[in-house]
Amino acid sequence: MAAIESVYAREILDSRGNPTVKVVLDTDDGAEGIGLVPSGASTGANEAWELRDGDKKRFGGKGVLTAVKNVNEIIAPKVIGMDASDQRALDQTMIDLDGTPNKSKLGANAILGVSLAALYASAESADEPLYRYIGGTNGHILPVPNMNIMNGGAHANFATDIQEYMISPYGFKTYSEALRAGVEVYHTLKGILKSRGLATGLGDEGGYAPEMKNNEESFDLIMEAISKAGYEPGKQIGLCIDAASSEFYGKDPKNPDNKAEGKYFFDGEFRDGDYMLDFYQKLVEKYPIVSIEDPFDEEDWDNWVKITAAMGNELQFVGDDLLVTNPKRLQKAIDLKAANSLLVKLNQIGSVSETLDAIELATSAGFTSMVSHRSGETPDTTIADLAVAKNTRQIKTGAPARGERIAKYNRLLDIEAELGSTAEYAGASAFKRAKVLQSR
Ligand code: PGA
Ligand code: ZN
Repeated sequence: MAAIESVYAREILDSRGNPTVKVVLDTDDGAEGIGLVPSGASTGANEAWELRDGDKKRFGGKGVLTAVKNVNEIIAPKVIGMDASDQRALDQTMIDLDGTPNKSKLGANAILGVSLAALYASAESADEPLYRYIGGTNGHILPVPNMNIMNGGAHANFATDIQEYMISPYGFKTYSEALRAGVEVYHTLKGILKSRGLATGLGDEGGYAPEMKNNEESFDLIMEAISKAGYEPGKQIGLCIDAASSEFYGKDPKNPDNKAEGKYFFDGEFRDGDYMLDFYQKLVEKYPIVSIEDPFDEEDWDNWVKITAAMGNELQFVGDDLLVTNPKRLQKAIDLKAANSLLVKLNQIGSVSETLDAIELATSAGFTSMVSHRSGETPDTTIADLAVAKNTRQIKTGAPARGERIAKYNRLLDIEAELGSTAEYAGASAFKRAKVLQSR
């Protein structure tokens, strides 16, 4: 056992220049762990509470000095002396200390920072790389990188309604070959945008963010980029989208006074659930789509059930805002047969052990899991190790651009090299529909 000797938090900046929490935790055997907390923009209403100061004189109210103080003055005295490697007991102690259902008293950013720092310190104490410390000897599958090469929605001033257009290079033998293909498509896309006089500036997750005529135009550009880069759409590279539809549900996000209850503001008009379902169905017929995230609003359970029944046999429906990495909401989705895949974001639930619980529950119910970054990130690479440790077979961590995204892709290159001949690339086994597309 390595006892926690000190815990210290302070305020740092994330990739958008917003304050976030850094925690440094030392144990009595000389190990040290650092926890860096990410932050979302298109956050789900049911996420664990990110505690911000609200003092408009500092960072427009986004400071995290209260969360920092909660670590230094409330959490630290309680957890010093505890076994750092007893992650579950440590997390539970903080959950009890907080006492609210959504960690709103101490802040999920405070609790997760300590939880992550303890995880890293314990891995160092055990002298193991993080993926092995979490996953034991079984963690050996490198995930398919779902690379968000075109950004819209809240990450790019609603250049398109759909928030993320991802390419999934699954038809390759190794992770590094797949990554290279993804990067080549990304660079080819830039050339295509340039040649059409379209903007090549980047959104929050590193993808291009040109204004499009409509949501479908982006797919045509990406398809062209895949072919032009020398790859076969569907056979080698598929598409994933994150509609992040809660952002355009009930209101026009660019003009929030323009409201229509129960409708989606999509392609310039309010549309009902049936219109959206039909849109997704036609999209899947036309393009090699293997996964759709948040096609419907986080409380529009009926339409989630409908789309999962209609296409869920082959297609992956990922619950992000719907499930918020929360075992309770996940259980509801399992019971209702709404969605068939869990998006995994540590800060949505706010501790390491609860995140592991969510993945475990998803797996036991036959759901897939996609480990995910946030749009506001740090150089932290925990999600890369987590994806390998739990053999989730999928990760999404943005475009191959911007240091905080690249850090995760590069970490996976390191893990692949370290595992050597025992590394396996998930490839097409990650998606049911990838195998269907390949057999055509
Ligand atoms: P967020 O976006 O981090 O801004 O929530 C990511 C996503 O919606 O998947
Ligand atoms: Zn999402």
